[in-house]
Amino acid sequence: MVDSAKAFFEGETDLIALVSNLSALIKVYVDDLNWAGFYFVKGGELVLGPFQGLPACVRIALGKGVCGAAVKEKKPIMVPDVHKFPGHIVCDSASASELVIPFFKDGEVYGVLDMDSALPDRFTDMELEYLSEITALLTDFLA
Ligand code: SME
Repeated sequence: MVDSAKAFFEGETDLIALVSNLSALIKVYVDDLNWAGFYFVKGGELVLGPFQGLPACVRIALGKGVCGAAVKEKKPIMVPDVHKFPGHIVCDSASASELVIPFFKDGEVYGVLDMDSALPDRFTDMELEYLSEITALLTDFLA
């Protein structure tokens, strides 16, 4: 999957086209996801970008929800049970676990990759590792 993601970047310069295809790739290749997509930091909040899944919250304040917390902490956040995460923002009530991985430009968070699963405890260090390779491609692209 990471190789397919790398292939998207060859000769492509449009960020929205890239993350659109990445969201589709992740949704197809990672089992048991009900949502996979991107939020971008814009004007002091997170704004919804391309995704696969049900319609989602368009704007998230920095520091709010799992996505906002990942921006504030500048690191990935893996949540085995979203119902136990203080301030979790419910976009799809089916979601039970969540993984959010930020990517960066000039050392600041530029956006996040957000994945939800209806299975509790769906995400492991293995998912974190290979999905971080994909967000690293975005950080390299933005450099
Ligand atoms: N659950 C997220 C909000 C985004 S949706 O899951 C797509 C959060 O708490 O930040």
